[in-house]
Amino acid sequence: MGLQDLRSLQLLCLLEAISLLPWTEALLCYEATASAFRAVTLHNWKWLLLRSMVCKLREGCEETIVYIETGTSRGIVSFKGCTSALSYPPQISYLVSPPGVSISSYSQVCRTYLCNNITNLEPFVRLKSTEPKYTVSSTKFCPTCVGRLDQECLPDFISTQTCPFTASSCYSSTLKLQAGNLNTTFLIMGCVRESHKLLADFQHIGSIRVFEAVNVLEKSQAVGAGHRSPGPPWILLLFPVLILST
Ligand SMILES: *[C@@H]1O[C@H](CO)[C@@H](O)[C@H](O)[C@H]1NC(C)=O
Ligand SMILES: *[C@@H]1O[C@H](CO)[C@@H](O)[C@H](O)[C@H]1NC(C)=O
Repeated sequence: MGLQDLRSLQLLCLLEAISLLPWTEALLCYEATASAFRAVTLHNWKWLLLRSMVCKLREGCEETIVYIETGTSRGIVSFKGCTSALSYPPQISYLVSPPGVSISSYSQVCRTYLCNNITNLEPFVRLKSTEPKYTVSSTKFCPTCVGRLDQECLPDFISTQTCPFTASSCYSSTLKLQAGNLNTTFLIMGCVRESHKLLADFQHIGSIRVFEAVNVLEKSQAVGAGHRSPGPPWILLLFPVLILST
């Protein structure tokens, strides 16, 4: 065996050793979280992907986007990162379908290099294009908002909007969504078919954990009439945050 052959053999062994190292099986995935409630539209939202992470052995890349609409307000809460879940192709569906408050989600788990790379809301545009238009409205009004209690949903920013005919109950809840670094608590108010927990069947959306606490919403009686405020007066009674953590 000549020196040349020996070198080749060494190189071969080295290559084999490298290929057996565990990190060659570990996957690189985008890592990101995003929450947006102000001026969100299906066409203007761009998810900037600035960070990636090396996953643990056998983990995959996940991306999950939750899109909420109530009246004319919209919100997005989303997560990208590593997950131990099995791979599944992109899924898009309504968790709560319109009319009224609607919540839809897009999610996938994949196992190729930086495959959790969605940056826009294209799947939701497609989902909504298949949905019928609801034009018949009722005579019912509900306070309508999606956003953080101390920002987009400050009392002054809560508008009162006409309900669709088939969704004429008022709903209000505090939703907490958690996954990895994602930890967002926000309010949803609007018209629904029946006023109860909307996400009772969804403890998880992808790997985002969901906590929903329904708030008590009461229309206050116009006592001491005389000064009529522009919209119907509403009182929002928030349950203690404790309920969220049960
Ligand atoms: C996103 O990932 C998929 C799957 O790996 C790949 O086919 C596609 O080209 C990627 N798109 C972009 C814009 O990088
Ligand atoms: C989420 O945020 C709340 C307050 O903003 C904090 O009390 C809680 O510990 C956080 N939870 C996690 C899992 O980071």
